[in-house]
Amino acid sequence: MSLRSAIEGVGSALPKRIMTNADISKIVDTSDEWIVERTGIKARHIAAEGETTRTLAVEAARKALDHAKLAPGDIDLIIVATSTPDKTFPATATQVQADLGVTTGAAFDVQAVCSGFVYGLTIADNFIRGGQAKCVLVIGSETFSRILDWNDRTTCVLFGDGAGAVVVRASTGLGTNQDRGILQCQIHSDGRYVDKLHVDGGPSTTKTVGHLRMEGREVFKHAVTNIASVMAETIAKAGLVPADIDWFVPHQANRRILEGTARKLGISEDRIVITLDQHGNTSAASIPLALDAAVRDGRIKKGQLVLMEAMGGGFTWGAVLARF
Ligand code: UT7
Repeated sequence: MSLRSAIEGVGSALPKRIMTNADISKIVDTSDEWIVERTGIKARHIAAEGETTRTLAVEAARKALDHAKLAPGDIDLIIVATSTPDKTFPATATQVQADLGVTTGAAFDVQAVCSGFVYGLTIADNFIRGGQAKCVLVIGSETFSRILDWNDRTTCVLFGDGAGAVVVRASTGLGTNQDRGILQCQIHSDGRYVDKLHVDGGPSTTKTVGHLRMEGREVFKHAVTNIASVMAETIAKAGLVPADIDWFVPHQANRRILEGTARKLGISEDRIVITLDQHGNTSAASIPLALDAAVRDGRIKKGQLVLMEAMGGGFTWGAVLARF
């Protein structure tokens, strides 16, 4: 018998306000046609005053706990993946812990930008398989609208706000790829590219929050290569082939990136969960938001194989393969 990390519940939260491409065209020189053709994005949710990374994370976490039929007291580790914390410190995870009324276990944040949720799930899986945690909340929560330069049309049209969460619980399996739970995790980074996608401020440099800056074309090029490579690596290490995977739940950055990676691996588009048309790029929140949508509308069923993947600032990238 071997320890496995089973995904028992999913939940998500979105700010009430929706900003369409038409709305954004009133702020910067852009058009619905350009945004849809280059990215596939039609709308995104934008946090209002009082809606923060913390409040969205808590709402998503409560829904994931309800879905798993578990109580906050069952959780012994909370991991929040975010690049837009409510405060520089303490960790958003400890703020979520307080709001859930949890006083035991541990809580910390993970900073891997858009790959944060994949990094968080990987850490949770290692804690569980190492016997140091039994029930982990992994949350991706972001309010990127607050670090965007709303005068920069090359970035402000791309991102949105939201949160998604999963409850991962220790279970046992035979150690084969037929087990339920996380079967493979692969994470990578290459710090040579720190300036390609970054925020131009911080506590120790400018003493400000800063704004997101991106060399879009460069990121795009690396995204397709790195994502396709880590997907292939993860599937192969599980002793499987792409045709075995039921659902691909990718980080939602750009529809052309999803199509490009799918083509490289010979994956048909009807097996890709796409929510970026309605959410935009929500960074660490995008995978659990898409996962929640596909679990709740019945596409992802118990026993099916789901491959999640992401690439983000750093560069960081990775993939997690799980059987639901
Ligand atoms: O989540 C982390 C990972 N992030 C990503 O994966 C994002 C990766 N990058 C991308 O998705 C794409 O590179 C973008 C969507 C950001 C840009 O698409 P692109 O096809 O690479 O466009 P581009 O940057 O080459 O720009 C093409 C043209 C330029 O005009 P010129 O120089 O050809 O005259 C831009 O100035 O489009 C112009 N442009 C815009 N036009 C209207 C750039 N942004 C806009 C805009 N509206 N919002």
